[in-house]
Amino acid sequence: MPQILDGTSIAAEIKAEVAEEVKALTAQGIRPGLAAVLVGNVAASEIYVRSKVKTCAELGLFSEMITPPESVTTQEMLALITELNAREDIDGILIQLPLPDHVDAKLLLDSVSPDKDVDGFHPVNAGRLQAGRPALAPCTPAGVIQILKRSGIPISGQHAVVVGRSDIVGEPAAMLLLQENATVTICHSKTRDLASITRQADILVAAIGRPGFIHPEMVKPGATIIDVGINRITDPGEFDRFFAGNPKRAETFAKRGSTIVGDVDPHAFEVAGAYTPVPGGVGPLTIAMLMANTVRAAKMRRGH
Ligand SMILES: NC(=O)c1ccc[n+]([C@@H]2O[C@H](COP(=O)([O-])OP(=O)(O)OC[C@H]3O[C@@H](n4cnc5c(N)ncnc54)[C@H](OP(=O)(O)O)[C@@H]3O)[C@@H](O)[C@H]2O)c1
Repeated sequence: MPQILDGTSIAAEIKAEVAEEVKALTAQGIRPGLAAVLVGNVAASEIYVRSKVKTCAELGLFSEMITPPESVTTQEMLALITELNAREDIDGILIQLPLPDHVDAKLLLDSVSPDKDVDGFHPVNAGRLQAGRPALAPCTPAGVIQILKRSGIPISGQHAVVVGRSDIVGEPAAMLLLQENATVTICHSKTRDLASITRQADILVAAIGRPGFIHPEMVKPGATIIDVGINRITDPGEFDRFFAGNPKRAETFAKRGSTIVGDVDPHAFEVAGAYTPVPGGVGPLTIAMLMANTVRAAKMRRGH
């Protein structure tokens, strides 16, 4: 039976460690703080930001939610970010995406101080990561590394194949795996004969955004599969293809009319030595790593 890499319990472990660190820092008069900027009224974004702010409270971090209206201009956002960059009580700045089309999202993300860039999206942090220097790494890929390490999966010397090369997941995941001394191959939509490459992977990271894209025959028996994908499916035919014979899923699907599947066909997990389930695998790590990054930023900014 393959090992299930339980992201929920690994995230809980990291959050408990962060809470301990926050307690120790607060005792020294340093209370790490996160500013979460939520523009407009996108329901999904609101849920994400609220859960980040709630987690800050649970772990003892200071947090502030700032909610500019949908009509906010790029100039007004720039002024807000400049103010947050200068504030002593704010260690991390999070600009929840997506932003409205009329604001220049790239310009705004680039205006966040790299030292407070707890999402790890700033080009300076991407560059630091590439150069192997201490950097605030994007939260989801940092979570992938934590899952591997804390589950005792060796990385050094292993062939890691990352499918996907986005700025926020695939590329930084590849850089972090390289830092851990994996031999890394990055694949993308122009890769020829993808299956012949994924079949070489000891560690296969799927960050594609296509439901159940990685099939069983694309996986080397015994490999570790890290499924970053989060895709909502509503089509009953698609549901049956992935989850036929799974009564628990069938119940959710019947109740909600949808369910979540990763970028890996669940049948491929049967071939694996270990895998992250969806949900409950990589997903829970993202907020845990955001908290860890905020504490790290608080310490780095003070030269710790
Ligand atoms: N667990 C979490 O907390 C978390 C966080 C962020 C994202 N996600 C999920 O992770 C997935 C990826 O997110 P993302 O933001 O990285 O997506 P993205 O920006 O759309 O990038 C997708 C990547 O997949 C590659 N790709 C697309 N079709 C392909 C194909 N047929 N063969 C090989 N590669 C292909 C693309 O290649 P090109 O570069 O050539 O176009 C691109 O590099 C999504 O399901 C997303 O929901 C999860």
